[in-house]
Amino acid sequence: MNPIKVGLLGIGTVGGGTFNVLKRNQEEIRRRAGRGIEIAMVADLDVERARELTGGEVEVVNDANLVVNHPDIDIVIELIGGYGIAKTLVLQAIEQGKHVITANKALLAVHGNEIFAAAHRKGVTVAFEAAVAGGVPIIKALREGLSANRIEWIAGIINGTTNFILSEMREKGLDFDVVLKEAQRLGYAEADPTFDIEGFDAAHKVTLMSALAFGIPVQFDKAYVEGITKLEGKDIRYAEELGYRIKLLGLTRRRENGVELRVHPTLIPAKRLIANVEGAMNAVVVQGDAVGPTLYYGKGAGAEPTASAVIADLIDVTRLQTADPEHRVPHLAFQPDALSNVPV
Ligand code: HSE
Repeated sequence: MNPIKVGLLGIGTVGGGTFNVLKRNQEEIRRRAGRGIEIAMVADLDVERARELTGGEVEVVNDANLVVNHPDIDIVIELIGGYGIAKTLVLQAIEQGKHVITANKALLAVHGNEIFAAAHRKGVTVAFEAAVAGGVPIIKALREGLSANRIEWIAGIINGTTNFILSEMREKGLDFDVVLKEAQRLGYAEADPTFDIEGFDAAHKVTLMSALAFGIPVQFDKAYVEGITKLEGKDIRYAEELGYRIKLLGLTRRRENGVELRVHPTLIPAKRLIANVEGAMNAVVVQGDAVGPTLYYGKGAGAEPTASAVIADLIDVTRLQTADPEHRVPHLAFQPDALSNVPV
C-alpha cells in the first residue's frame, strides 16, 4: 500500500521534531500504523529554514493553502499556533475532507465546538494529543484507557513554564523574572509568555480534558483563571515552612449541578507525589469511579516529547483512514450531556 500523505503547516521546534522522529523511527511507525507515513509537503513562511530542516527531501511552499487544498494530502498537521490563520486553515482542511492533527490548545479551547462540529459533518478526525501535556498521553488515557469510568475529577500540573519557575524560585531562591527568561531560553514558554504565567495555557488544556472527560462542550470562557504573577518568594518560603508546595493546578470536577473548571496556584502537602513534580515536567491525576486515582507524568513541552504525541495521533489516524469506513470512531465523540459548567 502507498504511504499515507501528510502536509505539515509550520515547521518550527515541534515540526522539526516531528520530521526527525518520523524519519528515525520510520520502520516501527510503519509497522504500527500498518502503512508508511510520508510528509509530502511543508508550508512555512521561512522557506529556506524549512528546506534546511527537511534536508531538501520534501516539497516546501510558503502558501499553506497549497497544502490544505492539495488533492493527494490525506492528513494535515497544524503547528502554526494561535487562533487567526490557524483556524481558517484547519476549517479549510476539514472542508476538503482531510483529517487534522494539531498541538494548538488555544485554538481548540476557544473554537473547538465549531471545529469539532465541522469535522463531525465531514466525517473526519481532529486529533489533539499534543495539545495537552506534550508527550504525556493523557488524551489517549481519557479517550481509551479510562473509557469505562465515570470520571470524577482531574487535577494537573499542565504548564511546564510555570512549574519550572516555581521550582527554581523554591530551590534556588531566584526571582520570578530571572527564571522566566531562562524558561524562554530553554524553549518551554509560549510565544507570548503571558499565556503561561497568567494561567491561560493551563486553562486551555484543562478545558479540553474537561470536555473529553465529562462529554461537555469546550467552555474556556467559563473557566476561573489565575496565574502565578502575584506569587512572591516569601509565599513559596512560608508554604515550605508549613509543609506545603505551591503548584499551578488545572482542576476540573464533576459537581451535582455542573462541572468546575479552574486554574490557580494551590497549596499541596509536600508528601504528595504531585507536589514533588519539579522543573518543566507535567503530571495529571485522574480519578475514575472504577479505577480510582491514576497518575500520568512526563515532559509537557519540547521538540521530541511533543512530536511523540503528534506522531501517535498520526499513527491512529492512519489506522483509522485505512479501516472500513463503517467502523471508524471519531477521536472526540462529541455528545455533550446535560452537565454545564459553573464558574467557581
Ligand atoms: N508553554 C507550554 C508549557 C508549552 O510551558 O507547558 C506546552 O504547551
